[in-house]
Amino acid sequence: MVLKGVIFDLDGVLTDTAEFHFRAWQDLGEKIDISFDRAFNENLKGISRMDSLDRILEHGGKKDVYSIEEKESLAKEKNDDYVELIKEITPADILPGVKKFLDDCREAGLKLGLASASKNGPAILKNLGLTDYFEVVVDPASLTNGKPDPEIFLKGAELLGLDPSECVGVEDAEAGIASINSAGMFSVGVGSPESMKQADLFVEETIELDLDAIIKAHAARG
Ligand code: BG6
Ligand code: MG
Repeated sequence: MVLKGVIFDLDGVLTDTAEFHFRAWQDLGEKIDISFDRAFNENLKGISRMDSLDRILEHGGKKDVYSIEEKESLAKEKNDDYVELIKEITPADILPGVKKFLDDCREAGLKLGLASASKNGPAILKNLGLTDYFEVVVDPASLTNGKPDPEIFLKGAELLGLDPSECVGVEDAEAGIASINSAGMFSVGVGSPESMKQADLFVEETIELDLDAIIKAHAARG
């Protein structure tokens, strides 16, 4: 099988916004008296804004404390905080090796797509100066199911006009790897060996992303 497309997650793969999400949720957590650490935060990676809030409330034993309107207002508060943080993003915030990897993909004639759960994705791509690399950006608002459901990666492949087996997905979240795998795509993880156990291939840092190695591993899977 020849590789024709690469579908990227954004937060934690192209730039370290995963850290900004963590900070914004922690700030909100302080206001509602729920604390959580980085290990818990791993469970929020790749998860939509509202689902993340639900997980945090459950973690803090406050699952049924807030009405839907109150939860919407809490999610908005977090997002307002997050939007302030991402305003400062510039091309200098592209994670190490990512620009070269995108250039290598482009030179190899691969089609590139973005499959981020974030509604702030297009604004972040713009601040990073990476908008033009991506032929398609899946709109998370158009989806029924979030990661780990395969819908977002399947939609990315469909919009690129490719079969999932002709694509690889790149992710830093366990939910994201599960989404790629169940879409029938080859999964490339960025993260610790423990969190990337389900990935077909993984690197610990973005600087290690190597297109040739990925092309070979994807081909070897058949
Ligand atoms: C994902 C992040 O990319 O987007 C999650 O990993 C985040 O942490 C989700 O909750 C939704 O993002 P946003 O910007 O729409 O709140
Ligand atoms: Mg991510």
